[in-house]
Amino acid sequence: MNSVLTQTAKGILAVYNSFIPREKHAVSDDAALEEIRRFARKRTDISDHLETLYREALSVQPKLLLELGVRTGASGFALSRAAEKSGAWLISLDIEPTLFRSDYEKWRFVQGDDVEFAAAFPEFAEEAGFEPKIDFLFIDTSHTYTHTRSEIDAWVPFLSPAGTMIFHDTNMKLIFRRKDGSLGGGWNNRRGVIRAVQEFLEVRWDENKPYRGNHNGFIVRHIPTCSGLTILRRKR
Ligand SMILES: C[S@@+](CC[C@H](N)C(=O)[O-])C[C@H]1O[C@@H](n2cnc3c(N)ncnc32)[C@H](O)[C@@H]1O
Repeated sequence: MNSVLTQTAKGILAVYNSFIPREKHAVSDDAALEEIRRFARKRTDISDHLETLYREALSVQPKLLLELGVRTGASGFALSRAAEKSGAWLISLDIEPTLFRSDYEKWRFVQGDDVEFAAAFPEFAEEAGFEPKIDFLFIDTSHTYTHTRSEIDAWVPFLSPAGTMIFHDTNMKLIFRRKDGSLGGGWNNRRGVIRAVQEFLEVRWDENKPYRGNHNGFIVRHIPTCSGLTILRRKR
């Protein structure tokens, strides 16, 4: 589901945001990172997190990345560059068709329900020619509690021993704030994703604030801005 704000409310946010300067970065010699930063200049519900996704994916030296929830491919844009740089497979899955395309030869799009696909994943991996061990898992789908619980149950068994799993929308709001102070329109998912993640980790923190901790075998980092991003790195 996209923002539930009216066109008028969205217009007011756009005017407010137009007064907020863009973040400045020192130029990097990583061309892919520069591309991602340019892409993320368009403020969206995930623009704050694209660089983090790219960096986190690279940091696990992945052989296989899986993203659940593609839409028009913002996370796909960042993750396909991380996959290409690492020589890793990237599997992008969505229940709906997507216009996102990558020329990268180890990229595949799967259309289907993500929980159902988990049962077919070992066979899919065997046919494609990779081990069904996920080094980097990104979950950004329905944002509901029950479905997130099912995703965790279905996909954690495939996470590799040094893998990282990231959830978007762990701090969803009708109006959310980005790290530059700009505002965007979302919807209230009644803490669906964060509740499922915190139950899995057996911990509770205030998702409106940054958080770091060690729980249930994971090093956890929570970023509250831009609808929230929660990073779970397996302890090595
Ligand atoms: C917020 S969008 C994903 C955004 C995307 N990661 C990006 O960066 O642009 C959520 C997506 O999850 C998909 N989705 C919802 N339920 C799903 C399910 N059960 N299985 C697979 N995809 C699902 C929707 O079709 C939608 O495209």
